[in-house]
Amino acid sequence: MKKIRILGIETSCDETSVSVVEKDNRGKIWILSNIVRSQIDVHKDFGGVVPELASRAHSEIIDTVTKKAIKQAGIDFNQLDAIAATGGPGLLGGLIVGTVFAKTMASVLKIPFIAINHLEGHALSVQLESEINFPYLLLLVSGGHTEFTIIKKFKKYKRIGTTIDDALGEAFDKTARLLNLGYPGGPEIEKYAKNGNPNKFEFPKPIINENNCDFSFSGLKSSIAQTVSGQRLTKKFKSDISASFQKTIVDILEAKVKRAIQNFKTYSKSKKNIHVVVAGGVAANKYIRKSLIDIESRENCHFLFPSMKLCTDNGAMIAYAGLMRYEAKLFNKLNFKPKPRWPLDEKAIFMKGKR
Ligand code: KG4
Ligand code: ZN
Repeated sequence: MKKIRILGIETSCDETSVSVVEKDNRGKIWILSNIVRSQIDVHKDFGGVVPELASRAHSEIIDTVTKKAIKQAGIDFNQLDAIAATGGPGLLGGLIVGTVFAKTMASVLKIPFIAINHLEGHALSVQLESEINFPYLLLLVSGGHTEFTIIKKFKKYKRIGTTIDDALGEAFDKTARLLNLGYPGGPEIEKYAKNGNPNKFEFPKPIINENNCDFSFSGLKSSIAQTVSGQRLTKKFKSDISASFQKTIVDILEAKVKRAIQNFKTYSKSKKNIHVVVAGGVAANKYIRKSLIDIESRENCHFLFPSMKLCTDNGAMIAYAGLMRYEAKLFNKLNFKPKPRWPLDEKAIFMKGKR
């Protein structure tokens, strides 16, 4: 078997990341490098990602990050078999920087260019670390997406539930902003929650009792805004809000995971212990990880979490999806246009603001 080496470029949001993933001649997969440059310092004063600043920051460092990824992988540019880059969904400016850079490299090196759906990267990234068979259930919880998708097999994805308003990472970031915590909000909320009382405040759990696998988080944010309004933001208050918020999120996730598992079992006609992969930035949250693991035996399922570095945005997941596509000979033409909106299940209807 010939070695295959794919370069993966991720620039869809606020991380510039480039990685080299190799499949060796025995079929084993290796992450040879995975350089991640976060733009936290660029955006932190604004409390969120500023698209124009993100594009500028990507274009300033994409070449040096790429050189570093190649150097760390211990290879030469001409040992690459294909260049993969996130083609969407995401912020258009960043997607343009990544795909134009990838196409240029591919045409100079005379190797294929492969455009990757960022969500497919998250969906498959677990395979870089764990042996897992299809089908499995994916719970994707990131800054831009929150959905349940059945990963039937490579390229066959069926979404069974999604947020109808904010993404979960967005809810963390907005709550953090209300509490004057830093950006990105998720890790800050997690830190404060450790010293807070999770039962101090009761927040709403929108659509938790509806018989579907959908989520809604915008009402939760409004309720927190009312609770915070006019209060002194002491450390104790911020900790109690953070802990109560996280507990509310876990209650919502548990209820919806239960439904999604039922749905998955109906689809797969199996009562076996099923695998649920939790991916995306919010999957880095240790309290959420632990709470989900605690319900494994009750729900007859097994949760798999990519390691921290593979949960948040990274080039390795793009290189790996690129490898799968390379082997299936699914290449893109150089006139590929980035897609700011690009659902993983292309048949799924757009739900945001539908109610
Ligand atoms: O997957 P990701 O890196 O980028 C997107 O594709 O959106 O996810 C970023 C999101 C942000 O909203 C961030 O606040 C959240 O993931 N996040 C966390 C944690 N670490 C990152 N949320 C909760 N707890 C964390 N430890
Ligand atoms: Zn992501």
